[in-house]
Parts: sequence; C-alpha cells; structure tokens
Amino acid sequence: MAAASELRLLVLPGDGIGPEIIGETLRVAAWCQTRRGLGLRLDMALVGGAAIDAEGQAISEETMALAKASDAILFGSVGGPAWDELPRARRPETGLLRLRKELDLFANLRPAVCYPALAGASALRPELIAGLDIMVVRELTAGAYFGEPRGISDMAGGGKRAVDTQAYTSFEIERVARVAFELARGRQGRLCSVDKANVMETGQLWRAVVSGLAGDYPDVELSHMFADNCAMQLVRRPSQFDVIVTDNLFGDLLSDETAALTGSLGLLPSASLGAVAEPGRALALYEPIHGSAPDIAGKGIANPLATILSFAMCLRHSFARPADAALLEAAVLAVLDRGLRTPDIAAAGEPTVGSAFLTSALLDELTRLTDTASPIGHVA
Ligand code: IPM
Ligand code: MG
Repeated sequence: MAAASELRLLVLPGDGIGPEIIGETLRVAAWCQTRRGLGLRLDMALVGGAAIDAEGQAISEETMALAKASDAILFGSVGGPAWDELPRARRPETGLLRLRKELDLFANLRPAVCYPALAGASALRPELIAGLDIMVVRELTAGAYFGEPRGISDMAGGGKRAVDTQAYTSFEIERVARVAFELARGRQGRLCSVDKANVMETGQLWRAVVSGLAGDYPDVELSHMFADNCAMQLVRRPSQFDVIVTDNLFGDLLSDETAALTGSLGLLPSASLGAVAEPGRALALYEPIHGSAPDIAGKGIANPLATILSFAMCLRHSFARPADAALLEAAVLAVLDRGLRTPDIAAAGEPTVGSAFLTSALLDELTRLTDTASPIGHVA
C-alpha cells in the first residue's frame, strides 16, 4: 500500500524512444524525491507494441486497473514499423486511445512555446515566431475519433464503403471550452475557438455552445475561426493566437502544426486532463508531443526534454507542486542556454550531445538552482 502522502504515478514507456526518454525522466523524478521531498510511488507497465508483443493487446486489463488507481500517468510513445500492418483495432495506438476514453481525459493541453535559443530551428522567419506562446486545447474523448457508427463494409454492387462519425454533444463541447476559457484567463486573455461551422453540423453546435459561455468569462476576448483559415493563420501570423480550443481531429492536425512552428518539437510536453472522478481527484496523463521515432530508437540520442517537461506539467497540474515544476522548466532553459543540443534541435554543423549527457547536465542545473535559490520554492 502507498503511504498516505505518496502520489501514485503509473509510468508507461511504450515503444521506440519511449523507454529511453522515460528512463531519463525517471532520473529527474528521483532527484525530486531525494532533493525536494517528493513522495512518489512508481508503477511501471507496458503499453502499445511492447504490450502487444508481451501481453497480446495494446493495453491489458491489469494496466487499465492500475491507471484508474493512480494519481497520474506518465506516458512515453507508442507505435513502430513492427506493428504497422496490424488492423486498426489492434494497433499500438489503441492503448493510448483506450486510456483517453476510459479515463475520460477530455482536455488535451498542448503548449507550443518558442525557446529563444531555438528560434533559428523553425521553418518560419525568426521574427515571426519570437516569443511565440500558444496553448492548443484539444477535445480528446469524442468527435471523429470515437463517433459511431464507424466501420468498413462491402457494398452490394461491389466495392467497399468506409464510415467515421463526427459527433459532439453540447456537454462535451462545454466542458472542454470551460477549461480553455479558464486557461485564457491566466494567460493573455484571448481565446480562439476553431470549427467548420460553415460546413458541419458539429461546427454549428460547437460555435453556439462556446459563444453561449462567453458571458461567464467577460475578461476573456473570444473569437471564432474556421479550421482551414486557422491552419493558414498559424503560418502567416502565429503571434495573433493565445489559447486555441478545438475538436479532436482539428486539434490533432493543428497541434502538430503549432508544435512544428516553434522549431522545438523535441521539447514540447502535453497534458490530458480528466473529469473530477471524486472530490479532489481528477486523473491526468502526461506525454511528450513527439512520437516514438523508431529511426533513432536505441541510439541514445533522443531528446528527453519534452518528457521531462511533461513531468513538470504533472507536478503542476496533478501534484500541486508548482515550485518544483518551475524549477524543472528553469533547468531546461539553462541547459539550452548552455548550448546543449540533441540532434533534433541542433542547427546544421552544431555539436550534439546524447540523452543521458543532457539529463546529467540538467540534474547539475537543478542542483545549482536549488543551491543558489533561497528559500527553497522561490525559483523562477
Ligand atoms: C496524438 C497522436 C495520436 C492521435 C495517435 C498516436 C493515436 O497523433 O496524440 O496527437 O491521433 O491522437
Ligand atoms: Mg497527433
């Protein structure tokens, strides 16, 4: 049994570079345990292709039960060429989708921040992305990903027909929109709701529900944008955005675009926040935005910073330890300022370091920051 003060973290490394970046992040978690008095109980389990190979499915019932009993989940990445030929319903991704759905993790926060040290790595001109700080809030448990009916059927006269269903209830829209309004409140106070209200019924309802909430947040400036225009505006003038809220499928596309803008894909974390399961307890899952990168798996060069920053989000949103989160974020900035780069964020010709070296440097920075900061907790 966990001691009362212990927080339960389920760790799911997954496939590809997942185990490596999670391994580095656990070094940081261990530092927080010994140096910051973080009471943590870790459970480890398989997910994705690793779970398919060892347990016959992308996530087992035992692991689902562990997830439900945890305070938070730290997730690496899933998928790889070994499982690419499997039918959709048995693919590694289903492990992640099942966690999202069954734990009701409806609000996916995907912050895209441009680190000044990396502005040169973006495909956009540095002046367009300097200071970029966008939060994409993606609805994560409904829409085209889960709508019924779905399937592929044979047609009478030959050929096949595939159906996915884009469906939203006003309840599903309202709860994710409220998360976005609240976040905008604590930031620059601007919320852009993104839909296809010009074409889709779900878009019509989406816009009506979000508009109907605006009166509760008079301090937030609400705007609406069609998803195609948003995709274009993000590359034209990304600084116009503060918080974006959108549905599951548009959010999948737009958050990848937003992440790529920053030039820092290997640095971006995400949080998937759930409904309050019982008073004072809402489950959440934390994972890097990047994927399993099978091409560099096992080489020791994957960038662990997105996962470490995901752990920082966990400290802030699930464990109520904002000072520790800020400390980790400050240490990430410090290693970047020192010019340390894994290959994914290095400019052409720039020297690079491996995952373990970078994490060791980060641990040194953490120690330095806490030794110079006094009193403890007043970092950043
Ligand atoms: C993401 C990923 C997932 C998604 C995949 C791995 C199922 O692309 O988290 O954005 O499509 O949601
Ligand atoms: Mg995606």
